[in-house]
Amino acid sequence: MFHIGATVFAGFVAFLGILIAWLEVTPIERQREICRMAEAAPGKEEEFRSTNQTAFVVGYTGETGKVLVEELVNRNIFQKVVLIGRRELNYEGEKYNKLEQKVVDYEKLEDHADLFKGHSVGFCCLGTTRGKSGVEGFKRVDHDYVMTTAKLAKEGGCGHFVLQSSQGANKNSSFLYPRVKGEVEAECADVGFDKLSIFRPGVLMVDRKESRPGEWFARKVLAPLKYIAPTVMTCPVETVAKAMVNIVLSPSEKPSEIFENKAVHLLAKGKLC
Ligand SMILES: NC(=O)c1ccc[n+]([C@@H]2O[C@H](COP(=O)([O-])OP(=O)(O)OC[C@H]3O[C@@H](n4cnc5c(N)ncnc54)[C@H](OP(=O)(O)O)[C@@H]3O)[C@@H](O)[C@H]2O)c1
Repeated sequence: MFHIGATVFAGFVAFLGILIAWLEVTPIERQREICRMAEAAPGKEEEFRSTNQTAFVVGYTGETGKVLVEELVNRNIFQKVVLIGRRELNYEGEKYNKLEQKVVDYEKLEDHADLFKGHSVGFCCLGTTRGKSGVEGFKRVDHDYVMTTAKLAKEGGCGHFVLQSSQGANKNSSFLYPRVKGEVEAECADVGFDKLSIFRPGVLMVDRKESRPGEWFARKVLAPLKYIAPTVMTCPVETVAKAMVNIVLSPSEKPSEIFENKAVHLLAKGKLC
C-alpha cells in the first residue's frame, strides 16, 4: 500500500516538474530583469503622471478589464482613461472622474475612430468563448474586433499596445482557441506599434459571475496547483492587471515582448516566487 502511495506521489511530482519545465519558458536572466522592471515601476508613477498621457481600454466590462480599470484608477497615472465598450458600468466616486465611458457597436468600430485618437497607451482585454458565441462569433471578437482595435489605435497615434492573450497561444495550433490567439499576436506585431506587450496568462483565477462550466472545472482542478506552483498554470486577474500597468511604467527595452504566465506574475510582484 505504502509503495503504491509513494509511486503515485513520485509520479505526481515528476509530472509537476515536467509541466513546470515545459510551461515556465522565460529564461532565468530575463526573469531577473522582469523583476527589476516591476520593482522600478512604483517609483516611476509620479514622473509618468506629470507627462499627462491618456489611455484607452477595450474589454473593460470583463473580469480582467474591470480589475485593470480599478488598478488604473488607484494608481492614477493617466490624465484620462477612455473606456470603450458595448455597455456602460456604474462608477461612483471622485476617484473615477478621469474615466470616460464610450458605448460603441463593435461591428462598426471604424465609425468610432476618433475615440482611438491621441492615446499613448491602449489596453485590450477583449474576448469571448466558443461556448458563448460559437466558432464564428469567437473569431469575430477575439480576432476581428481585436485587430480592428489595434489598427485604429495605431492610426490614432498609440505608441504602446498592451494585449491580453493566453497561455498556449500558437498560430500553428490545430485547436481553435490557441490558434486564434497566436494569429492575433502575430498580426498585432505587424501593425507596427513602437511597443507591443503581449500577456499570456494561464487560467484566470476569478470568481466569475457568468456560468462557464469548463472554466469552473479547470479552476477547481487547478486550485491545489495554485498553492504548490502558483506561476505555472493559473493567474489571478489582479496579477494580470498589475502587470499591465507596470509594463507601461517600466517598459521593456524590446519593441515587442511576450510575457508568459510566470513573467506576468513576476512583472506584477517583482520577485522570483
Ligand atoms: N478565462 C480564462 O481563464 C483566460 C485565460 C487566459 C486568457 N484569457 C483571455 O483573456 C482575455 C480577457 O478574459 P476575461 O475572462 O477577463 O474576459 P471576459 O470577462 O470574458 O470579458 C471580455 C470582454 O470582452 C467584451 N466582449 C465580449 N464579446 C463582445 C462583443 N461581441 N462585442 C463587444 N465586446 C465584447 C466583454 O463585454 P461585455 O462585458 O459587454 O460582455 C468584456 O468586456 C480574453 O481574451 C480571454 O480569451 C482568458
